[in-house]
Amino acid sequence: MATTSTETAIPATRAAVILPWEKPEREHDVRTAEARLEEAVGLTSSIGLVVVMKAVLLLRARRPATLLGSGQVESLREAVAEKEVKVVVIDARLSPGQQRNLEKALGCKVIDRTGLILDIFGARAATREGSLQVELAHLEYQRSRLVRLWTHLERQRGGFGFLGGPGETQIEADRRMIGDRIVRLKRELEQVRRTRGLHRSARKRVPFPVVALVGYTNAGKSTLFNALTGASVYAQNQLFATLDPTMRAIQLPSGRRVILSDTVGFISELPTELIAAFRATLEEVSEADIILHVRDIAHPDSDAQKADVLGVLGDMERDHMLDGDWRSRVIEVLNKADLVGGPDAVSHANGAVPISAITGDGLPELMAAIDEHMAHAMEVVSYRLPAEAGAAIAWLYEHGEVTERKDHDLEVEIVARFRDGDRARFENQFGNFLVEEGKS
Ligand code: GTP
Repeated sequence: MATTSTETAIPATRAAVILPWEKPEREHDVRTAEARLEEAVGLTSSIGLVVVMKAVLLLRARRPATLLGSGQVESLREAVAEKEVKVVVIDARLSPGQQRNLEKALGCKVIDRTGLILDIFGARAATREGSLQVELAHLEYQRSRLVRLWTHLERQRGGFGFLGGPGETQIEADRRMIGDRIVRLKRELEQVRRTRGLHRSARKRVPFPVVALVGYTNAGKSTLFNALTGASVYAQNQLFATLDPTMRAIQLPSGRRVILSDTVGFISELPTELIAAFRATLEEVSEADIILHVRDIAHPDSDAQKADVLGVLGDMERDHMLDGDWRSRVIEVLNKADLVGGPDAVSHANGAVPISAITGDGLPELMAAIDEHMAHAMEVVSYRLPAEAGAAIAWLYEHGEVTERKDHDLEVEIVARFRDGDRARFENQFGNFLVEEGKS
């Protein structure tokens, strides 16, 4: 493999996605298998592989050496050669031996479900804690399997992950080093956790409320994110040039500005050793003023997926990553309504909003719902400040939302919206210049 090729010169890597399926072939299971295969195809595409082949293979028995039956391995080998597949994703857990045997038999790279998911988390972990957590899970996974270098993808994607990453040469050379690194990572994680509170308060200084999108992978979070930023006039802002690409400032119909934050999607049957890493990628949700729970209402497991998402958020509350009142901050978004007859045909309760992120139906209603939630969540006050109180006025612009301002000779009238606790902070620091208070 050439080591000097530039990013643009690297051809897309062709992949096959195989779902070994051992459940009986009842109608419901066939639908579930298809949905599961589609999920795996989506995940594979999201790390930059081009899926040229996909299949569900029924397992009659789990073969210890290769998981798949020998006939299945043989026909897969032929297909891999014919379609010039370079990576086969097996959507199941493989033992290190099975992975090696399959690589030998198929003549190409083989990744299992855990490896695939680790790679996605690695590329998306935004916080220090998130990347440490993912790297830890990655190293623990690799300790028993020395995976050969995959520099091609590593250069192409620039992240670390299962497919290659910093220190991988040493990892291959010396398994003991992995152990040392794990010990160091755990220590560093401890340290990061201890200072997490500090980081939180620093983040709170982002001057706008945060709306976080959560939901199952493939529910349409990214499509919705793009639709909302596309529909807004305020998507570009120099202030946010440094925010990561999964965050964008937008303006709601009321004129209120919010930051939209996309998160890593939930994945069905997440391998247990990856749960900590996944939750670390959900840190953004801790900061969110509103949680948009994006659901694919056309998915056969839609209800179970909803229960899963709420379960994980509940776990985050138990571990003090979320406040006890997070439920009041959730807006349920019933996406893909176009597949079931349009938003009007979808029954909905408890403030859930049916939409189609693709056709744009229901987006105005969703924006209005976000606006309304936000108004409830914020306090509005009118102050009359002495004109020379520059520091107090600057504070209001930095921490609150200034919606009106009138400059008089000696005084400034300001109407500002505050998020939780900010009003008390302002008045403790600068005194009370209150004229009027209320909700927006
Ligand atoms: P992850 O990034 O894997 O977490 O997925 P996601 O939740 O961001 O989903 P994404 O936006 O990538 O959409 C997944 C698939 O669903 C894509 O093929 C979209 O085109 C499709 N999709 C999204 N929204 C809609 C919708 O409203 N209607 C229909 N029919 N398809 C949609």
